[in-house]
Amino acid sequence: MSGTSFDGIDAAVAEFDLVGTELSCRPLGLLSRGLSDELRSRIAAVLPPQRTDIAEVCRLDTELGRLFGEVAAEAINTYGDVDLVVSPGQTVFHWVSDGHALGTLQLGAAAWIAEATGTPVLSDLRTRDIARGGQGAPLAPMLDSLLLLEDDVRRGVLNLGGIANLTVRDDDHRVIGYDLGPASALIDLAVSRATGGVERMDTDGVRADRGVVDHELLCRLLDEPYYRTDPPKSTGKELFDADYLSAKVGDHDLGLDDLVGTLTELTAALVGDACSRWQLEELVVSGGGVRNPTMMRRIAALAGTTVVRTSEDFGIPAQAKECYLMALLGFLSWYGLPGTIASATGASSLLGSFTPGARPLQLPAPPPQPPTRLIMRG
Ligand SMILES: Nc1ncnc2c1ncn2[C@@H]1O[C@H](COP(=O)(O)OP(=O)(O)O)[C@@H](O)[C@H]1O
Ligand SMILES: [Mg+2]
Repeated sequence: MSGTSFDGIDAAVAEFDLVGTELSCRPLGLLSRGLSDELRSRIAAVLPPQRTDIAEVCRLDTELGRLFGEVAAEAINTYGDVDLVVSPGQTVFHWVSDGHALGTLQLGAAAWIAEATGTPVLSDLRTRDIARGGQGAPLAPMLDSLLLLEDDVRRGVLNLGGIANLTVRDDDHRVIGYDLGPASALIDLAVSRATGGVERMDTDGVRADRGVVDHELLCRLLDEPYYRTDPPKSTGKELFDADYLSAKVGDHDLGLDDLVGTLTELTAALVGDACSRWQLEELVVSGGGVRNPTMMRRIAALAGTTVVRTSEDFGIPAQAKECYLMALLGFLSWYGLPGTIASATGASSLLGSFTPGARPLQLPAPPPQPPTRLIMRG
């Protein structure tokens, strides 16, 4: 897994067991590997608003595929053999027009992973959902709804990656999942731009903590049509890019700490609005943003009466939740079960493309009933 922040590659190994309609997941281990500065810069250089050429896309597809293969092989060597590797790939473009997803592109050719591990690979997890009229994102609602939204508590599940996404149930108990807007995307951009790439994030939220929120800029940032459209909806760095940030900041004169403080407040404000919109009693947070104490403090402040917790309380390390999500989607696809929920992405879809491993691909028959609940086992 390498998310929209492309801060590193995370891998998790999990064992699933379906008994009746109860699916259990035993986490077997995690590992993370950083991406070289060179590769990070090259990924950044193919993202909008930059232009690229097809040769560089081919090179990145290959190099990322090889790297994902190395990380997968390392995870297998460390934690034992697996039946399936799930590799969602590096998202470089999510094509949204007039609120509809029309296409999506993830790099990291699966063949390299299959060769490196001899194991079947599930990749390209989003396109099928789009082909069925869905948004192709967010994918988190399947895990969130099975694991966290079955209790009587009015709970929301928030992941703070480059983009913040939320899963909730509405009054009719339907699962709703959508992207709120930027979490660290604009913060990372502001920091790398101002420091010439020497710093790439607001480490431990130090800058935001020192900075003073600029309310005029905050208002301008909040004045974004995307925030006013109803879910299902998805967004990405195609919208919240460097040009977007420049246009919002304009010739407004403010220091980096104040800018980062204001961008952190933007995310907290979006989360706070969502807490009141869905009248949440609890919010369960995961993703790299959990490691930003200033962001977490501002979220807690703007969440009002909503109690803010992290996914660790539910047996999932905050930085690994997306990995376990991918593992779950792999399990579902392996058994011929849909990985998306119509009320969340807009479609209910079988996900992904399978690449055979060393042997011909043999998929099992679907179980009589799909899982209705996920239990994490320690
Ligand atoms: N110690 C930290 N302090 C502040 N922010 C952090 C810290 N660690 C991670 N982050 C933020 O989290 C982001 C990565 O989160 P992650 O969940 O991996 O997102 P993605 O899925 O987009 O890769 C980083 O880009 C950074 O902005
Ligand atoms: Mg990441």
